[in-house]
Amino acid sequence: MTGKNVWLEGLPFPGLDFSAEILREVRENFTIKDEDVILLTYPKSGTNWLIETMCLIYSKGDPKWIQSVPPWERSPWVENNYGYNILKDKEGPRLISSHLPIQLFPKSFFKTKAKVIYLIRNPRDIFVSGYFFWRLATFVDRPESLEQYFEWFIQGNVPYGSWFDHTRGWMSTRDKENFLILSYEEMKQDTRSTVEKICQFLGKKLEPEEMNSVLKNCSFQVMRENNMSNFSILKHKFLAENEILLRKGIVGDWKNYFTVAQAETFHKIFQERMGDLPPELFPWE
Ligand code: A3P
Repeated sequence: MTGKNVWLEGLPFPGLDFSAEILREVRENFTIKDEDVILLTYPKSGTNWLIETMCLIYSKGDPKWIQSVPPWERSPWVENNYGYNILKDKEGPRLISSHLPIQLFPKSFFKTKAKVIYLIRNPRDIFVSGYFFWRLATFVDRPESLEQYFEWFIQGNVPYGSWFDHTRGWMSTRDKENFLILSYEEMKQDTRSTVEKICQFLGKKLEPEEMNSVLKNCSFQVMRENNMSNFSILKHKFLAENEILLRKGIVGDWKNYFTVAQAETFHKIFQERMGDLPPELFPWE
């Protein structure tokens, strides 16, 4: 490792716009309000897809907002300096993004009725997506090979720590009525039903043409061409020229990268760490 990450309580965070002081401040003193809606994910689970979809639901399919404002201002990350500073002074209902594990999330949340959408994804696909993203990022410890990143991922030495801990932590609140779990896989298979589920959860209704516009504008192809959403404005600043957010956008890409031995190791670790949770929580093969 090259020492670019920021650490708090044994967890690494990207070394850009993060500090242990802000992370502590967010947990202790950031006030979540009943009317806030929180989009929670482990990195590379499809966070930006969920943000895009939510913003389109809020704008009733009108793409003006997503075409003129980047996702980190539409639904700022509570845990980085930039997002924290936008959110703390913002009046009215807020859309808030976060990758924080439950133990670092603002304590105020646990006394509110704020709604949370927790988007999960097959950790094997998260691993592949993360490898291709982080290896070019300038602000984290970069893996030198897929093999090295496999070890880091299993150990939780990756941004935001262990996927297993993150998922177990948040899954423990899954029975609360203000908590909706979605999966990347179901969203891919049937985006319309997922959008309907979100609308129902939020008490929103879309007319048929509004729904069609949401579906069109949150599609992989349209997002890839939207310069506000494809991270192209971060190039040269924080991301390498050839780094892309919208890489493949498919389910099961891990099969193209895992060796047989890695697949077996991962399966065994998954069983050990998650085997006691209901299998229907993890809708992938
Ligand atoms: P891949 O690298 O597997 O392609 P995050 O936003 O949490 O960083 O997640 C990034 C992943 O979500 C990338 O996965 C990206 O392609 C995928 N993604 C983003 N928008 C998508 C969309 N509209 N449809 C499908 N996948 C999308």
